[in-house]
Amino acid sequence: MGGGGARRGEGMEQDHLPITLPVLEKMRLGATDNVLDVGCGAGWLSRRLAKLVPQGRVVGMDISDEMIRHARRASVDFENLMFVTGEVAEIPWQPNFFSHAISVESSYYWPDPAAGIRDIFRVLQEGGSAWILINYYRDNEHCHQWGDLLAVETHLLSAQEWAEHLCAAGFQNVTRERIVDLSPSPEVYTGRWFRDVEHLRAFKAEGALLVCGTK
Ligand SMILES: C[S@@+](CC[C@H](N)C(=O)[O-])C[C@H]1O[C@@H](n2cnc3c(N)ncnc32)[C@H](O)[C@@H]1O
Repeated sequence: MGGGGARRGEGMEQDHLPITLPVLEKMRLGATDNVLDVGCGAGWLSRRLAKLVPQGRVVGMDISDEMIRHARRASVDFENLMFVTGEVAEIPWQPNFFSHAISVESSYYWPDPAAGIRDIFRVLQEGGSAWILINYYRDNEHCHQWGDLLAVETHLLSAQEWAEHLCAAGFQNVTRERIVDLSPSPEVYTGRWFRDVEHLRAFKAEGALLVCGTK
């Protein structure tokens, strides 16, 4: 893949880290936990997770072979981390294994979000928890333009609809909250996702949606 995927991965780390760090704190991981990172991309979050669970195991999964190849190359120093190619509705793993599953900015790409959430439920242990973080959701009007900009099909669901999918899959204690992005914004916005810096600031102030549930 060359450097393109690597650069994309680093860009995603920069963009997603400010909303992911508060989630990692909320997860309260223990040293022996087993964690699944769904739609792990280039694996930056999986590597962070692996350091947080030194006696546990982290599995990063992504539908893209290219991303998995890049994630593996960047993670050779980790003994408790592995990457698998897979689609979220058919996670290539045994049932009742993981203590936590996290997914950052991936779920709105899943062809069938309800089926993906059901399979995450399957691979979690009793008492395990799912943490799904989403920047593209209906309740934040400042991201709706992404639908036309993204080259692939996406699902623009509301917080209520995401929560209902978790409940329907069997999750309990389902919660949803906003994770505000407190990182500094540039003086001038030159990207293509927002009209201008005011639009970017309005988006960040609304915050990402975090939907959680326990098995
Ligand atoms: C915007 S990237 C986010 C990557 C990573 N979580 C991060 O924060 O850098 C979305 C990722 O979800 C993956 N993805 C999309 N649909 C998927 C599916 N059905 N099953 C598993 N992964 C999927 C994509 O290949 C992509 O790597």
